Amino acid sequence: MAIGMIKKLTANAPLAFSCTANAATNRFDDLVQALKDALGPSSGLTSDDVDVEYLTRLMQDYDSDPAEWSRFAMGDQSRGYTRNLVDEGNGKSNLLVLVWSPGKGSPIHDHGNAHCLMKILRGNLTETRYLYPEGETEKPMKVISERVHKENDVAYMADELGVHRVWNQGSDFAVSLHLYTPPNVARGGCHIFDPATGKKSHTKDCGYYSAYGTKL
Ligand code: SIN
Repeated sequence: MAIGMIKKLTANAPLAFSCTANAATNRFDDLVQALKDALGPSSGLTSDDVDVEYLTRLMQDYDSDPAEWSRFAMGDQSRGYTRNLVDEGNGKSNLLVLVWSPGKGSPIHDHGNAHCLMKILRGNLTETRYLYPEGETEKPMKVISERVHKENDVAYMADELGVHRVWNQGSDFAVSLHLYTPPNVARGGCHIFDPATGKKSHTKDCGYYSAYGTKL
């Protein structure tokens, strides 16, 4: 297998990585297919019948190799992070490669009643979880936990566990693979939260920076 070079980005350069994989064996492509197969026969329109343990195991079993996923990993330092569509799992999921700019991250958000699995492909990502804000009174949101996820770790998130934000504390780009099933957020958006007041607002702005390896 040809091991490619990972390039450091200069500001606003659209492509973070330049690698080539042996076309005959790409275990990332195998993972994408396995996730799709797992959801194909079993998953319906709700998140109830999804076998999260099995999906987690599939993601854990993949050992990250940039040569295999770099074609999806388009970073852009002018943004907090980019969302790059890899697969839609026959309409039952959204599989995305996210490229996180150094020192930046996502706003606090919910998950539209869907399962969210996140595997770290490169670097470290910090995840802060908060209690879902209850009541009308504006007050700072309460942190439940903060964890640093390292390369190849897999994390699970869902609305029952609160809301969260993810950020890259490193000095270089970080990359993660996210599986959302069902793809409720892609269809209807999600809520984002102000950490100082707990006030939420709805956003439909969950678009893609690239799809299937092509910049949009
Ligand atoms: C995350 O912070 O969990 C990623 C959010 C997204 O998919 O945009």
